[in-house]
Amino acid sequence: MCIKSPADLEKLKIIGSIVRKALDATAAAVRRGVTTAELDAVGARVLAEHGAESSPPKVYNFPGALCISVNDEAIHGIPGDRVIRTGDLVKLDLVAEKDGYFADAAVTVCAGEVSAKAAALARCAEFAFFEAAKVARAGNRINEIGKIVENETRRCGFQVMRAYCGHGVGAAIHESPQILNYHDPDYQTKLTEGLVITIEPIIAAGKGKGVLQRDRWTIRTADGSLAAHYEHTLVITKGQPLLITAA
Ligand code: CO
Repeated sequence: MCIKSPADLEKLKIIGSIVRKALDATAAAVRRGVTTAELDAVGARVLAEHGAESSPPKVYNFPGALCISVNDEAIHGIPGDRVIRTGDLVKLDLVAEKDGYFADAAVTVCAGEVSAKAAALARCAEFAFFEAAKVARAGNRINEIGKIVENETRRCGFQVMRAYCGHGVGAAIHESPQILNYHDPDYQTKLTEGLVITIEPIIAAGKGKGVLQRDRWTIRTADGSLAAHYEHTLVITKGQPLLITAA
């Protein structure tokens, strides 16, 4: 969507802060012995307390409030009886709606002490996001974002999972435009003031190819390498973007 009024921005900020609270509460519950279904219930409870609804179950019949993806699972993992172990890299991704406004965010959480590579991968996804957000301003080409995400990820020694990307959001769960995680020189579209998008580096320690699992949801790395994900919803301005899901 494109923000057209202060009321639009207020409503978007409300759902953005609810998504943040739900993600933070879920992240705080990540520990050895907890199941991904129990984690999902933590996030779902926060949404319910604030009168918000998770969108993937409503829109896509996704079987969970959050996507919870562990280790070589990159995105769209289904909450269930999987037990979190020390050293797991846990991706929590949540898009929710209130009063017709949608916000989307994701974090990678380390369960206790993780390997140096896992910690570096999680840090890299977040770092690539913040570097890319610096060029997410009105008048810049969208492909500047992908260029930075890809370059920063490579500089860390990792690869983006090119098949998965950010997107427009705000009035629906997924809107145009696509926000690629790599540089496509033919993609000349420019960012405009008020546009609501996600930037979401989805990166892997290996080659970055993903495969759909038999559950028809979970995307895992084809080579079994670790994956990380970091995402915010943001509003494009003439200056620095407004991070809607940061607080
Ligand atoms: Co998203």
